[in-house]
Order: sequence, then C-alpha cells, then structure tokens
Amino acid sequence: MKAILHVDKEWGIGKSNGLMFSIPADMKFFRETTTGNVVVMGSNTLKSFPGGSPLKNRINIVLYPSGEPREDCKIVRSLGELFEEINKYDSDKVFVIGGAMMYKTLLPYCDEVLVTKVDAVGGADAFFENLDNNPSFELVYESEPQETNGYTIKFTTYRNNDVKKYER
Ligand SMILES: NC(=O)c1ccc[n+]([C@@H]2O[C@H](COP(=O)([O-])OP(=O)(O)OC[C@H]3O[C@@H](n4cnc5c(N)ncnc54)[C@H](OP(=O)(O)O)[C@@H]3O)[C@@H](O)[C@H]2O)c1
Repeated sequence: MKAILHVDKEWGIGKSNGLMFSIPADMKFFRETTTGNVVVMGSNTLKSFPGGSPLKNRINIVLYPSGEPREDCKIVRSLGELFEEINKYDSDKVFVIGGAMMYKTLLPYCDEVLVTKVDAVGGADAFFENLDNNPSFELVYESEPQETNGYTIKFTTYRNNDVKKYER
C-alpha cells in the first residue's frame, strides 16, 4: 500500500477541509497514478470532493464509522473492516489519498509515500508528518524542480524501511 499527497513547505496538506493548491501537473500525476487502482480515504476527504462523490475509474474505499452503505463506493466502519477490504487487492494497487487522520492511521502500513512538494506556504490547518524526521522513512527519489502554474514543485518518493503488517 502507498500513500500519495502534496505538501507545502511546512508539510501542510489542506485548509478548511479543502486543498491549498490546484496544480494541474500534480493533479495529472495523481490521476495517472491512481486510475484503475484502489483509493482509500477518510470520510472528510470523500465529503470534500465535488458533490461528495467518489473518484471515477477507481475503486473507492472510505473509512466512515457512521456512514451508510452506498452504491458508488465501499463504506467501511472500522479499521478491521478496512484491512479486510484492502486485503482483497494487490497491495501495490492500493493508494491512501487522505486526509490528515487517514494518513496518520495508515502511514505505518505504507511501503511508499509519493509526496509532491510545493515550494510555497499554503496556510494549512491539516498537516502530514515531516518524513525527513522519521527514521523509518528514506527519500529514494526526487525529481528536478518544475515551474508550473506559478509554483515550483518536485515529485518525491519516500520508502518505509519498517512496514507494519495489517492486522484484522
Ligand atoms: N494535500 C493532499 O494531498 C490532501 C489529500 C487529501 C486530503 N487532504 C486534506 O486533508 C484535510 C482533511 O483531513 P481530515 O483528517 O479531516 O480527513 P479524513 O482523514 O479524510 O477524514 C477523517 C474522518 O475519517 C474517519 N477516520 C479517519 N481515520 C480514522 C480512524 N483511524 N478510525 C476511525 N475513523 C477514522 C473519521 O470519520 P467520522 O468523523 O465519520 O467518524 C474521521 O473523522 C482536508 O483539508 C483535505 O483537503 C489533503
């Protein structure tokens, strides 16, 4: 399982239950990486999407303890149920897509984290842990900086050298 996200210079990921930046090059990377795969999110991230609808062309699994079953995505009500669901898929095809609480919960189980770094401060109220300070994580890829839409961004990959196994 992998996590995918963008962060600002302070590892901020969002504000007012929305994203801080809308950067087409990053959205393209996100879409191309996750399409045809499985995306896992918390209830607030689902609610933050247009119309509260899941992402197209992907299997959407949402941890939503008080949620009702629905047709357009798989609602799970506990971590145990989430792991049972994720276990049905090849772990390389499963992407944690937010938000802050979901990333925090699932980070130890992710073997890689794909982080788009935006060289700006977005005024976040939701944060991801700074992986440079986590001894289990190692920066294994960093692209050249790219200028896009008025932002400088870099695509990076962190590898988790101490992956935890899911327990139901
Ligand atoms: N920068 C990025 O790439 C990126 C990507 C995605 C989201 N975001 C941002 O992240 C922010 C939202 O973060 P968030 O933490 O509020 O959202 P979240 O993780 O999507 O949703 C939190 C909710 O999910 C459920 N949940 C998550 N972890 C759980 C656990 N361990 N056990 C039980 N339930 C759990 C709970 O639902 P209930 O409340 O229903 O019980 C919880 O309140 C927004 O600003 C959003 O834009 C940023």
